[in-house]
Amino acid sequence: MTTEPTITGLPEHIPAHVAIIMDGNGRWAKARGLPRLAGHKAGTENLRRIIKGCVKFGIKYLTIYAFSTENWGRPEDEVSGLMNIIREVIEKELVELHKEGVQLRHIGHLDKLDPILQKKVMDAVELTRNNQRLILNIAFNYGGRDEILCAVKQIVEEKIPVDQITPELFGSYMFTKDCPDPDLIIRTSGELRTSNFLIWQSAYSEWYFPTTYWPDFDEEELRKAIIAYSERDRRFGKVSSKQD
Ligand code: IPE
Ligand code: IPE
Ligand code: MG
Repeated sequence: MTTEPTITGLPEHIPAHVAIIMDGNGRWAKARGLPRLAGHKAGTENLRRIIKGCVKFGIKYLTIYAFSTENWGRPEDEVSGLMNIIREVIEKELVELHKEGVQLRHIGHLDKLDPILQKKVMDAVELTRNNQRLILNIAFNYGGRDEILCAVKQIVEEKIPVDQITPELFGSYMFTKDCPDPDLIIRTSGELRTSNFLIWQSAYSEWYFPTTYWPDFDEEELRKAIIAYSERDRRFGKVSSKQD
């Protein structure tokens, strides 16, 4: 992670904000005759490589889907294994991430987590709050519907007049309020759905669905995703600005 950005072979249009649904850990493990948690471990190792790639490619915001509000429904040992993995990641990686200028943020709800883990997450956020090289949003116990409902409840509680409720105001109640909307959303493993990820923010995101399982999604695959993104014509409901 100490390398300065070398954008060789990359197009001019780098997405400012990339979001990733890191999917396929379980199938990656199954294909190797390993337990699902081994897939989650391998997926976490891969995250380090992808963060490094994002820094190298000059991406400013990275949002990763690590645990959804629906993932609580998995077997208890898988859920507790995932909690241990996040704790280990913070313990092992925080110093290096901080040194590299990564600012950690959490999106979702912490209150359902073990108080020790909650504190670790809050301390990591506090330690890295002034870093600017890469903003890393970790979606953990995150759900898009939950986020929207929280925003509605807050707006109602604050008695905001109806005529003031614009998309901009609504966006300012989202967990991602200080980030631009994601330009590119990658979902690995070949599944073609949002699974409750950034459903407000993704209105005009470009989607990319590689079939690779997350633990195998490497820097080269990230580069391919960015190239594919750069070739899209983002019209935002208007007509193309490109010459025919
Ligand atoms: C994604 O991998 C990681 C989490 C949801 C935590 P999965 O565990 O969903 O892997 P598959 O989809 O079963 O292969
Ligand atoms: C989405 O993947 C959640 C994360 C990657 C954290 P899932 O594997 O939970 O989604 P579904 O169940 O296939 O829709
Ligand atoms: Mg999955």
